[in-house]
Amino acid sequence: MTDDEFSTFMQASVLAGMAIAYTGTSIPHGLSYTLTYENGVPHGKAVGVFLSGFLKKYGDSTEVEYVVKQLLGFDDLDAFRDYIRTLFGKLDMSEELWKKDRDGILANPAKLKNYPFELTADVLDDYVRYYNA
Ligand SMILES: [Fe+2]
Repeated sequence: MTDDEFSTFMQASVLAGMAIAYTGTSIPHGLSYTLTYENGVPHGKAVGVFLSGFLKKYGDSTEVEYVVKQLLGFDDLDAFRDYIRTLFGKLDMSEELWKKDRDGILANPAKLKNYPFELTADVLDDYVRYYNA
């Protein structure tokens, strides 16, 4: 990584931290902790494996399309998912651990406060199905 790339990366990191300080995070972040604590998956990767499923099931497809195509430059959500999966591999989590993670977030109102749509166990299961498809 060049000094300029490192500087850009650090600026992006600071901006992300400022945004999180104001808004908090959403579902992929909440789901990531079990994967990190129980399976030792690094935090960024643990969040990343839930992103494409989160976007797939998000309640506003216009907003998702804007993020995926306009902001991130992918042709579609499948291309974004494929890219992330190439980087991180398939989600490797036991059924028991996944249910603990899924049911834990659904039972925690603080983890759901930034998500404006209905969230169910079936929706969260679809996150994993979509990512690993
Ligand atoms: Fe984080």
